[in-house]
Amino acid sequence: MTSFNIALNFEDGVTRFVECKAGEKVLDAAFRARINLPMDCSDGVCGTCKCRAESGRYDLGDEYIDDALTEDEKDSGLVLTCQMIPESDCVIAVPASSTACKTGQSTFAATVTKIEPHNDAAVVLELDVDAAAPVFLAGQYGNIDVPGSGQHRSYSFSSAPGETKISFLIKKIPGGVMSTWLESAQAGHKVELTGPLGSFYLRAVERPLLFLAGGTGLAPFLSMLEVLARAESQQKVHLIYGVTRDLDLVQVEAIEAFTAKLPNFTFSTVVADAASAHPRKGWVTQHMPAESFNDGDVDVYLCGPPPMVDAVRKHFDDNGVKPNSFHYEKFTPNAAPVTA
Ligand code: FES
Repeated sequence: MTSFNIALNFEDGVTRFVECKAGEKVLDAAFRARINLPMDCSDGVCGTCKCRAESGRYDLGDEYIDDALTEDEKDSGLVLTCQMIPESDCVIAVPASSTACKTGQSTFAATVTKIEPHNDAAVVLELDVDAAAPVFLAGQYGNIDVPGSGQHRSYSFSSAPGETKISFLIKKIPGGVMSTWLESAQAGHKVELTGPLGSFYLRAVERPLLFLAGGTGLAPFLSMLEVLARAESQQKVHLIYGVTRDLDLVQVEAIEAFTAKLPNFTFSTVVADAASAHPRKGWVTQHMPAESFNDGDVDVYLCGPPPMVDAVRKHFDDNGVKPNSFHYEKFTPNAAPVTA
């Protein structure tokens, strides 16, 4: 029997996935998974179960009343989970915390399989999850417990969902908790991971995409590009990857490989260091071709440090660029990412 994978994104950043059988309502599928989504009547009358469907196809049902879900709300993507019957995989934003819905993050035990330094600037950490492959949306992150420290650090998945082998691109920070552990970590060491988390993830691809990566903010885009490649996407995708120093440019071969897998994928790199011999020096905002905005018919995704996010927003404002959507994740070392 057909079933669909439904991602429930809670307002505290936790994502849980539930299997929804053909013809099953989302509220019932969540309940089977012991997740108590907000509800009262379960009859399409009260509107308490209102959520936002961010992607996917579905039948809204016809047994609810206008007071519970108005035409305008319906047109803006709101749904009643007690009535909604998915017709494909869907992503649903739930306006409640995971704890209020009596659920929380999933925890995964994993084994280190590879630690690969890149230019002394970053490390690719590859883990093999001991049980089932973690399910996440391309772009999301997980918290890795740093063994022996009692602390965790947040990193975006750089691998695509659905694999037991998962990877992360980790910025090397001298004296940093994770960087210090990585210096002595070896294949076979055990770590624990919680997640997935975050509202920075690839939405339905319906128009050209502009990806803006700052430093190891490249990681979520590697995951997104792999998802697009697997879907044989024909959509235009342009990635601008900006770093501070030449040696911070890592994984360029991995990006280059996507030009063979995605027919309409292009990318450029930018180095800020004035002493660099790189052909494109300066900031990402100085190397954004006007055509990449596609007259505003573009979805923009940005992952980078806060000054980069602010600079890009200012650039858009100064140049009258109004993209169809702008999703960003600000990250700073030692802090959980902030998404919008
Ligand atoms: Fe009342 Fe869905 S629970 S409308």
